[in-house]
Amino acid sequence: TDALKIGIAGLGTVGASLVRIIQSRSNELAATCGRPILITGVSARDKTKDRGLHLAGVEWFDQPEDLAEKGDIDVFVELIGGVNGPANSSVRVALERGLHVVTANKALLAYHGVELATIAEEKGALLNFEAAVAGGIPVIKALRESLTGNTISRIYGIMNGTCNYILTKMEKEGLSFADCLKEAQRLGYAEADPAFDIEGNDTAHKLSILTTLAFGNRIAADDIYLEGITNISIEDIHAAAELGYRIKLLGVAQRTDSGIEQRVHPTMVPVDSVIAQVDGVTNAVAIESDILGELLMVGPGAGGNATASSVLGDIADIAKSQPGAQRVPVLGHPAKALEPYRKAR
Ligand code: NAP
Ligand code: HSE
Repeated sequence: TDALKIGIAGLGTVGASLVRIIQSRSNELAATCGRPILITGVSARDKTKDRGLHLAGVEWFDQPEDLAEKGDIDVFVELIGGVNGPANSSVRVALERGLHVVTANKALLAYHGVELATIAEEKGALLNFEAAVAGGIPVIKALRESLTGNTISRIYGIMNGTCNYILTKMEKEGLSFADCLKEAQRLGYAEADPAFDIEGNDTAHKLSILTTLAFGNRIAADDIYLEGITNISIEDIHAAAELGYRIKLLGVAQRTDSGIEQRVHPTMVPVDSVIAQVDGVTNAVAIESDILGELLMVGPGAGGNATASSVLGDIADIAKSQPGAQRVPVLGHPAKALEPYRKAR
């Protein structure tokens, strides 16, 4: 079967991790997906930057729109970021061309997601965005696939790794807000403009996407009550602890009799609750629905590898759904490729 050819726009924290993973696991990916996954084009701002990547034989594009329009690719992977700049224009070009698109860009989806989904549906293209919400946690798959048929009443959780990292470090290591934020930036967790993290906008972008998947409404990112963590002091954290609570930045969306309520704000959660135990860059998303009951997913919420893992899952889904390739294997791998069981001693 032909290789699935992908173009990656953006070679920063997430894009560079994705390139490394795809190149270092090419045989395993080909076996699992039933066809090789080949990077044929890339784009970033600075061609001369040493990224420690092996890009010989991969076509370089200075403009992501050119990669989307002219690249020899089946899938356009957008890992640039931003709402109205090159991320938006290149994704549009790719979808108009009928290419499948994978993106981790929640800000883009929060403002243009409905329009982009409309183009994708008209063109018969797939638009996958697992990495856009809660990093490595497969919450989009849960809502789009696993929970089909459920009526969802509420979604809430910790959806920003940077904020949870800051709150945890302030409490456990007594570091200042500013030092914790700097460390989160160094580790590749924060947005290009970290105001989006600490002022709660990033959580609101993610929540608005989940709300749409859960309740079927148009995305309404600006209709969210919003309060970030910039006013939380170490004294607040200690006072909450004395009362038996921890402070977490939560996003909450729920059905009410009068419509859908969405809010993002620091919340005191009882210290013995599962959510209170979620530390560092880890995220947690709870979904309450009528058939399943409460589902709670906890996992890495940001960082190059955690995010690239979800992006790769989206690419693999496309590889498995292309005509000529096998469908999703029943047992996760093609049955004929399953290895003999080796029992641990
Ligand atoms: P990043 O490290 O800032 O990387 C951004 C990349 O985009 C860089 O390679 C940059 O090029 C490139 N770029 C910027 N402007 C460009 C332009 N005009 N034309 C071509 N390329 C351009 O960002 P990141 O952390 O990888 O995040 C990428 C996306 O993933 C964002 O939407 C972010 O919200 C999302 N995301 C990130 C995480 C995370 O943990 N980091 C998690 C989930 C989702 P240069 O390298 O040449 O400057
Ligand atoms: N800046 C985001 C965070 C990246 O800290 O959660 C993951 O979406």
